[in-house]
Amino acid sequence: VFHKHPKEVEFASNGAFGRFDNQQLQRGFKVYKEVCANCHSLKHVTFRDLKAIGYNDDEVKAIAKGYQIPVYDPATGEVKTHEGLAKDHFPPVVYAGQGVPPDLSLVTKARHEGPAYVYSLLTGYAQQPAELLKQFPDAKTPEGLHYNPYFANLNIAMPQPLTADDQVTYTDGTKATVDQMAKDVSAFLIWTAEPKLDKRKQTGWAVLGFLLFATVLAYMAYRNVWAEKK
Ligand code: HEM
Repeated sequence: VFHKHPKEVEFASNGAFGRFDNQQLQRGFKVYKEVCANCHSLKHVTFRDLKAIGYNDDEVKAIAKGYQIPVYDPATGEVKTHEGLAKDHFPPVVYAGQGVPPDLSLVTKARHEGPAYVYSLLTGYAQQPAELLKQFPDAKTPEGLHYNPYFANLNIAMPQPLTADDQVTYTDGTKATVDQMAKDVSAFLIWTAEPKLDKRKQTGWAVLGFLLFATVLAYMAYRNVWAEKK
């Protein structure tokens, strides 16, 4: 009863007519890069994938340059690093704190109602309700964990990552409230998990159009074939 279902939240990409909002995806990327990336990797995404959300070649190169990419050399057993190139994937992240931050590339697919869940998790940190402690004194949040009713076991190792408005500087005029940043990064993680979402929907409509056309054609053929038998 203390574990909450994700909040209701609308994303631009929801529904059959929904499309990604590149402005929002870019804001969400900024939140990922400046906040989440301290702990979470994004291994399924390459830098040049970011072109799909509106960055040009130079911007992609500049973003890639900001990362060091480790490469294992099987001949020597050494790991060398090189400056990121457009073709590279986001590198692994070494995390020294408590818990294991999962890779975020597919996280919105890995959890029930993923996007709403991520948004709710980010905005859901709270005090433990007195009622919970009364009923289950053993559920008291242990040292180093944080109470979050959207997390399945209620106490999560991730410290609240978004804590203050303007934690990330937005340059498109959108006010960077905690709520907005949480929504934007969730939208961005919808995209990382399914970059071809827009394409899939477009194709869907084309297929429906063709099926409708084929149905009309089949009906006309049927009328034609049986015309003399009436
Ligand atoms: C877990 C998202 C920032 C450390 C998670 C999970 C998500 C997530 C979706 C998985 C929860 C689950 O298993 O259901 C994000 C986002 C961030 C962010 C979107 C940026 C806005 C951070 C930061 C840290 C961190 C900055 C480190 C200081 C962790 C850890 C876990 C985790 C340790 C594992 C929690 C556990 O299993 O108890 N995060 N995170 N995260 N995150 Fe983050």
